[in-house]
Amino acid sequence: MSGDRIPFLDLVTVHRELEGELLSVFKTALDTAGFIGGPTVQEFELDFAEFCESRFCVGMASGTDALRLALIAAGVRPGDTVVTVPLTFIATTEAISQAGARPDFVDIDERTYTMDPEKLRSYLESECVRSPQTDRVVSKRTGGPVTAVIPVHLYGQMADMDPILDLATQYNLIVIEDACQAHGAEYLSKKKGRWCKAGSMGRAAAFSFYPGKNLGACGEAGAVTTDDEQLARRCQMLRDHGQSRKYFHDIEGYNGRLDAIQAGVLRVKLRHLAKWNDQRRERARGYDELLAGTEKTVVRPHVPSWSRPVYAPEGPGRRRHRNGPPLPDPASHREGL
Ligand SMILES: Cc1ncc(COP(=O)(O)O)c(C=O)c1O
Repeated sequence: MSGDRIPFLDLVTVHRELEGELLSVFKTALDTAGFIGGPTVQEFELDFAEFCESRFCVGMASGTDALRLALIAAGVRPGDTVVTVPLTFIATTEAISQAGARPDFVDIDERTYTMDPEKLRSYLESECVRSPQTDRVVSKRTGGPVTAVIPVHLYGQMADMDPILDLATQYNLIVIEDACQAHGAEYLSKKKGRWCKAGSMGRAAAFSFYPGKNLGACGEAGAVTTDDEQLARRCQMLRDHGQSRKYFHDIEGYNGRLDAIQAGVLRVKLRHLAKWNDQRRERARGYDELLAGTEKTVVRPHVPSWSRPVYAPEGPGRRRHRNGPPLPDPASHREGL
């Protein structure tokens, strides 16, 4: 810490406390030469699926890969339109365009900062027309069939999933949750009569394990969670050049694999995630008490009765390069997101 600057996020102390375990992850990878895939990745996938109350988890190289490959695996095709919110990280729309689809936007609820289901309804009713040939609505703006919707659980806050899922059923839309900022967040589903974990409600969900996330790797990593076995299998193939088995490339895929060192790191850190999320909630309660009475000047996160948010950290701003790199690194500001 320098001068009067207090970092938003301390990524040094958290790893120092786990140093022994993290170093042994690296040593295991060196001793076994297990760097890509293998048992450590599978063990993490099992653990994270259980944490998210999902049947399957497929590790990915990043949250962006997870979103893109989940969309493709779920059946989104070039020319489709995928609806999401304008308030998100750019990767949500990159994944849509890179799947060959067009993003279209419905706005957020200004209190929760997540997709407003009423605005989604009004978009589907007024800004789309039903195609007489297919069971789909077509966006008047893009001219393409609306096949999927991506609610984003932003800043650790859940989107209001019950009405979004109802609309998705009514309009035959695939729901992919962008849970990249919501590891462990929960939604009280009136329909199911219980609290549901982020990543367990859509057809599939995407998580990012970028270092500053609530569950962060020591590098790049991501995952798809789903209850749909076929979709999980397609994700496994898509992340590995479309291989069904070694050198049998049934479909054209990508290189989007999770490496074993990151999976091992994530496994160690996952054991602490519930406690860390509780600590974040405790801090948020503390801020609420300290800031009571400042409603006119300070807008604090609104927590609806149906949400147990996990208060995902906001980025700390552009990191200063002490020596000045020869070329500015456009990604260097993202360490905390
Ligand atoms: C809402 C959201 N979606 C997608 C992503 C993409 O994740 P990644 O940076 O791991 O590719 C992020 C990560 O910052 C995110 O916050």
